[in-house]
Amino acid sequence: MAVIADRCPHVRVTVTDINPERIRAWNSDRLPIFEPGLEDVVRRARGRNLFFSTDVAAAIRSADLIFVSVNTPTKTFGEGAGRAADLQYWEKTAREILANSDRGKIVVEKSTLPVRTAAAMARILNSNGKGLRFQVLSNPEFLAEGTAIRDLEHPDRVLIGSEETPDGVRARRVLANLYATWVPRDRIIESNVWSAELSKLAANAFLAQRISSINTISALCERTEADIDEVARAIGTDSRIGPRFLQASVGFGGSCFKKDLLNLAYIADSYGLTEVARYWESVVRINEWQEARFVQTMVANMFNTVAGKRIALLGFAFKANTGDTRESPALAVARALIAERARLVITDPQALPNARADLADAAESVEFEDDPYAAARGAHALALLTEWDAYRRLDYRRIFDGMAKPAFVFDGRNILDHQALYDIGFNVFSIGKMPMMRV
Ligand SMILES: NC(=O)c1ccc[n+]([C@@H]2O[C@H](COP(=O)([O-])OP(=O)(O)OC[C@H]3O[C@@H](n4cnc5c(N)ncnc54)[C@H](O)[C@@H]3O)[C@@H](O)[C@H]2O)c1
Repeated sequence: MAVIADRCPHVRVTVTDINPERIRAWNSDRLPIFEPGLEDVVRRARGRNLFFSTDVAAAIRSADLIFVSVNTPTKTFGEGAGRAADLQYWEKTAREILANSDRGKIVVEKSTLPVRTAAAMARILNSNGKGLRFQVLSNPEFLAEGTAIRDLEHPDRVLIGSEETPDGVRARRVLANLYATWVPRDRIIESNVWSAELSKLAANAFLAQRISSINTISALCERTEADIDEVARAIGTDSRIGPRFLQASVGFGGSCFKKDLLNLAYIADSYGLTEVARYWESVVRINEWQEARFVQTMVANMFNTVAGKRIALLGFAFKANTGDTRESPALAVARALIAERARLVITDPQALPNARADLADAAESVEFEDDPYAAARGAHALALLTEWDAYRRLDYRRIFDGMAKPAFVFDGRNILDHQALYDIGFNVFSIGKMPMMRV
């Protein structure tokens, strides 16, 4: 919304949330999320044509176009628990829109939703007894955290789905015209509403599947002396495969991949497509296996016990350039190491507040440290879990000198210079490569 306000000064954008803390933060100098470039965009537009408010009803009343971006987490109760999307926030919002509207509006699904949700929402909105007509569009969001501003300013594509009726097509043109202020027309794709909804789930499923696929090959590399970076380069130069998303790692995270994969599988199951469901679920299973495998490698190589050992986790965010820790592989690794009774020291340039909240129940096993050198001091092992650039440039000789010996590095993102670390004296373990062990 901040980018829309920035690019379309003629449009008044009001962002509302039922969480007053978040709105307060959006109106302050300390935004509630870290995202490169976001502060500049907000500063340019805030108070001009971008406003943040807790008054949801007033924002609905004055709007012609309403983007609904509420959370759609995995359901934790009842039918479909652990798999289906929890649509309660979305449905509440639809009813709130209805209660506060005295004219028809265009409602845009920005949240990621199961196929056919727009149709259900249109039924709720259009059974209003006031004669108001609403159009529900699907406009899934393809931005990636960490590169969100660039992705929004220069999107690969913008996808807009609507009912294939004259009113539906008219509504999607209104939204297309808004994006066309800064997005080239040939990048704005129009479709029916179900294709748009399904495309978002399918896009995330394909991205996650590539990571799980390369991660299965990484396990084979570790057994066969093949090198995962060489294999990734060799297959990525095939123009049919392409080079991106072939980076083997400890696993994928973030709030979307797992929930969207499970949701896709649930939808497939609900249409009796069992094989389709099992196929996509296996992408999640491989990810969990890869996280577990990483910890098994650590424990097995640290003489089959990490109990009482200090282990420094470099990075806790699910990827670099974000403070977001939702479904972060680091959290899975931390929990498994805590179960092994390790003592953890966690460092991260942006994610420590979230890490503290995530591990509040394990306070006696975990320390949090802003300074990576202080985190590593006295540690038996480093586990690099987020690919922050700053971790490539640390003085690893200084770190080695302050560590317990033998000292171990487990590079869960394959970003370090493994030969240099080995030469310093570390035992080095990475993903999809043979271990470099000192005798
Ligand atoms: N985070 C991403 O990178 C990303 C990318 C693409 C799509 N999405 C999708 O966008 C949606 C939101 O994701 P998020 O990461 O921003 O979630 P989030 O949980 O960080 O934010 C959702 C916000 O909605 C607010 N909210 C809930 N009910 C409300 C209501 N009735 N009225 C007003 N506000 C309400 C919550 O208070 C919260 O602040 C999800 O469906 C997600 O799948 C997220």
